[in-house]
Amino acid sequence: MNLNPKRYTITAALPYTNGPVHIGHLAGVYVPADIYARYQRIQGKDVAFVCGSDEHGVPITLKAKKEGITPQQVVDKYHAIIKQSFQDFGISFDNYSRTSAKIHHETASHFFRELYESGKFIEEITEQLYDEEAGQFLADRFVIGTCPKCGFEESYGDQCENCGTSHNATDLINPKSAISGATPTLKETKHWFLPLDQYQNWLQEWIIKGHKKDWKTNVYGQCKSWIDDGLRPRAVTRDLDWGIPVPVEGAEGKVLYVWFDAPIGYISATKEWAKLKGKDWEPYWKSEDTKLLHFIGKDNIVFHCIIFPSMLKAEGSYVVPDNVPANEFLNLEGNKISTSKNWAVWLHEYLEEFPGQQDVLRYVLTANAPETKDNDFTWADFQARNNNELVAIFGNFINRVVVLTNKYYDGVVPKHSEFSEADLQTLKELQAYPDVIASSIERYRFREAQMELMNVARLGNKYLADEEPWKSIKTDEDRTKTVMYIALQIASALAVLSEPFLPFTSEKLKRILGHSQLDSEPIWNDITLNTELLPTGHTIGKGELLFSKIEDQQISKQLDKLQASKKANEAMNATVTPQKDTIQFDDFTKLDMRVGTIIEAEKMPKAKKLLILKVDTGIDVRTIVSGIAENFTPEEIIGKKVTVLVNLAPRALRGVDSEGMILMTETPEGNLVFVNPDTDGVNNGATIN
Ligand code: MF3
Ligand code: ZN
Repeated sequence: MNLNPKRYTITAALPYTNGPVHIGHLAGVYVPADIYARYQRIQGKDVAFVCGSDEHGVPITLKAKKEGITPQQVVDKYHAIIKQSFQDFGISFDNYSRTSAKIHHETASHFFRELYESGKFIEEITEQLYDEEAGQFLADRFVIGTCPKCGFEESYGDQCENCGTSHNATDLINPKSAISGATPTLKETKHWFLPLDQYQNWLQEWIIKGHKKDWKTNVYGQCKSWIDDGLRPRAVTRDLDWGIPVPVEGAEGKVLYVWFDAPIGYISATKEWAKLKGKDWEPYWKSEDTKLLHFIGKDNIVFHCIIFPSMLKAEGSYVVPDNVPANEFLNLEGNKISTSKNWAVWLHEYLEEFPGQQDVLRYVLTANAPETKDNDFTWADFQARNNNELVAIFGNFINRVVVLTNKYYDGVVPKHSEFSEADLQTLKELQAYPDVIASSIERYRFREAQMELMNVARLGNKYLADEEPWKSIKTDEDRTKTVMYIALQIASALAVLSEPFLPFTSEKLKRILGHSQLDSEPIWNDITLNTELLPTGHTIGKGELLFSKIEDQQISKQLDKLQASKKANEAMNATVTPQKDTIQFDDFTKLDMRVGTIIEAEKMPKAKKLLILKVDTGIDVRTIVSGIAENFTPEEIIGKKVTVLVNLAPRALRGVDSEGMILMTETPEGNLVFVNPDTDGVNNGATIN
């Protein structure tokens, strides 16, 4: 662990650019990374906080196919949306780049060539999965099959989403093409492999021996299991047409594997930023006194702890991550968040419903962050945390302090007299918080850190409730001034300490308290040193509402929206029977279908399902036995127009001759319904063709 780093290179997983970002992204990666980066900047540290859009790879190609547009159109659309969402939620990247940027293509190509030229790859012709129908090789998300490790039936070619294992597409049991559904064949093709087995010992030393204590248990555990299983060479090129062309001869039609190029995106983004700032990018990646941190979700662990570090190690001049604080997943109302099922809270949509309330979502996502296990986001919890915590504790405290200061002293910080025991105790408690919060942040325990922040507001509320300045104002002016003086110091400390978590609120609160008008703006360390934050005589501003109550109807609207998604999905996913074999027109004309009317109906004795019908077919009135008794009573179907197959060979059912068949279909719930086309004004006996 780098104990006293000179600079911090903080990366947040590059999101796939095949859709907007949702609360799961924010909770798992971007909010914790942002809290950390903001905190280090507040401490005066040299920080490069970088991210960008991951624009290559199969998910983008699949999305383009689905929407009938080009991959470039897909990434242009979502890059803009994603970038805006991050900005809207105050994710304070120093640079948000994209992997289609020229600088990234250059950096990634250069990186590949370096390894290629120094003989770090194995070049090999191997058999890869091939889709004969689509005429293309299948890798990664183009192929789905059973995971060889856990048996999950919908594992991708490069990674199983169920157990996190990363494998080669040819390892899948029962592989199927995600493009055509066809069973792939094997076809020879040349690729370049990174021999991970050669890094096994080094990884063992570095992770297993080196990071037992300071890496999160889930991260350490996953790494250990892969290393124990034994690592194998991994192809870092693909037969695809979307991506960065493999920059060596004899590699036409091949591109870099997306997981080879994307993490290099962190380096490109740093370069791009440094150039803009007139800085040197290299120390951020190559200097031993740099602390490199990757914020990611748990499905990215293998790539950031095994593959990318091996790439960096192979190159030789880079530092490897000091820590990889990966989070588990956030569920939504009890179900896995899913882009394709639209089971998500999209950030851009949230802002339409709750404008200006970014900090509320940041707060709830941190309070409920999936740090050590998967967690659930519910709208009820969102409402409760806003109303009972942000409004009732934080907002209420600030409101009382600001309103009373304006009312009693025209907004001027009063002069205090001698402090009581309770005052000294309160100040002492306040003084301890910066270190407590910092220590939690340094250990990537953001929920805990934010809880301590709220304890500062609780401390303020308790102090006011105990001292009751609204009562003492009538009897003891000096005492009231002292109490308000202390309450104002707590309010100011809250403005400072809340900045990493609630940046918009912090800024607003600093404005209300007039921090920028002070000779020196209060900082984190002033609180620790018990330096006066708001001096006597300083004038604060008027009150503004920091948080507002969220009403039941706002919540039910969100729940209704999710319900609608669920319905739409059910309808879409209702299993559709595959199309039958092709028939000729003559085959069809053999069927004689007519419009008819049911004129009599009765139950078949001792049969649960059967009704005996008399149907006027226009040709005659005949008996048809139909298996619809569980769905219809005889009474309700008499007089009904139906479609009848009249030339079906007669068949005896329970001793009754049935001379035809009524056409029926079924609802998703399994209820039968008549196929009766719009036959108003059509006579019985009309043919259907
Ligand atoms: N796009 C990947 C995902 O969403 C993350 C890429 S992270 C990087 O899972 F390291 F490759 F950049
Ligand atoms: Zn698996």
